Amino acid sequence: MLKIDALCTEYRNEQGQAVKAAQDVSFEIEEGEFFTLLGPSGCGKTTTLRSIAGLERPRSGQIRVDNVLVYCGEKNIFVAPNQRGFGMVFQSYAIWPHMDVFANTAFPLRVGRKSRLGKAEIERKVMRVLQAVQLDHLRDREATQLSGGQQQRLALARALVMEPKLLLLDEPLSNLDAKLREAMRFELKRLQRELRITTVYVTHDQGEALAMSHQIAVMNQGRIQQLGTPREIYEKPKNRFVADFVGATNFIEGTVRSVAEGGHCVIDTEIGSLRSTSIELLRPGDAVVLSIRPEDLQLSDARPEQGDVLQAKVDQKIFLGEAMDVRIKVGERLLLSKAHPALRAHVGSPIWVSIDPLQSVAMRATEALAA
Ligand SMILES: Nc1ncnc2c1ncn2[C@@H]1O[C@H](COP(=O)(O)OP(=O)(O)OP(=O)(O)O)[C@@H](O)[C@H]1O
Ligand SMILES: [Mg+2]
Repeated sequence: MLKIDALCTEYRNEQGQAVKAAQDVSFEIEEGEFFTLLGPSGCGKTTTLRSIAGLERPRSGQIRVDNVLVYCGEKNIFVAPNQRGFGMVFQSYAIWPHMDVFANTAFPLRVGRKSRLGKAEIERKVMRVLQAVQLDHLRDREATQLSGGQQQRLALARALVMEPKLLLLDEPLSNLDAKLREAMRFELKRLQRELRITTVYVTHDQGEALAMSHQIAVMNQGRIQQLGTPREIYEKPKNRFVADFVGATNFIEGTVRSVAEGGHCVIDTEIGSLRSTSIELLRPGDAVVLSIRPEDLQLSDARPEQGDVLQAKVDQKIFLGEAMDVRIKVGERLLLSKAHPALRAHVGSPIWVSIDPLQSVAMRATEALAA
């Protein structure tokens, strides 16, 4: 449905120097897929999205929609944004304050490419999307008298009413409070699934990305660091940046002692030898970094039977309600564990740790540092 090849987009800064905001960005999205660009502020998410929309002119690369080029640097093809048929909700969206909910939603139908539509047809289309975003009961309310979350849904309705073949969403939940944001996540996902709209979603919130996406591209400094399903990104991060950005993790430096089939290896570290898995080819002697998620450091009072077993001391704990963050000390090394709140862990007392080798990911240290 959407295919991006080696896209580069630059800006000029105040000194006239080129800022490479998106570099060598490539990915492909299937029809009906929810695709997320995830990364820290300034990494090039909005730039990439605006390039897809045609609001920025890239320097080089290609963008194909349904196998038709809408941008090609080499062939000098550039299809204007309003000819691309995409729906968009921007980071700072604007609703029209002098119109009510219905008029706001109907606006694109009245002025846009579909302005030939009759009154009844507009009524039908508008009410359908207003129902979808659960604003139908507010159709006559002035837009300024909506709550933040309702305004956000209105912006979404306005993008959806055009029945775009591609929906581009730039942090559409950013100005909602935590609770509403969570509710809207489910809402958006339900809508996307029901209407089967291919969606490119931009966020810096890893939880949001993991919860909503079929595929995620993690970006840093204009480049895609890793492309994969939420599970792949979370469980098998390719480098230190991805591991660190997509949730909390423990990094442990080490050296490869031995390597077996299927990426299984044994790593010598300051806290002992640990079995681990790697997605890249490692050799004995390679300097590596292990990434182990806090929830994969299993704590218990009794000596565990499975996994790599370590002895530790409870250093600190924070009760979070549904879980407990426990900082433990293995030798001199501090590690973070996420434990069940029922665990009896007294600060200063000894505790057992078990690590499942499949949940301990080894990556080459050079790669880990490069990011
Ligand atoms: N119009 C512009 N002129 C010059 N530089 C720009 C312009 N827009 C963005 N940049 C720069 O390009 C880089 C990428 O910006 P972009 O807006 O794509 O980041 P982002 O990932 O969307 O960040 P955020 O999460 O803060 O929205 C940044 O270094 C930014 O300062
Ligand atoms: Mg942005």
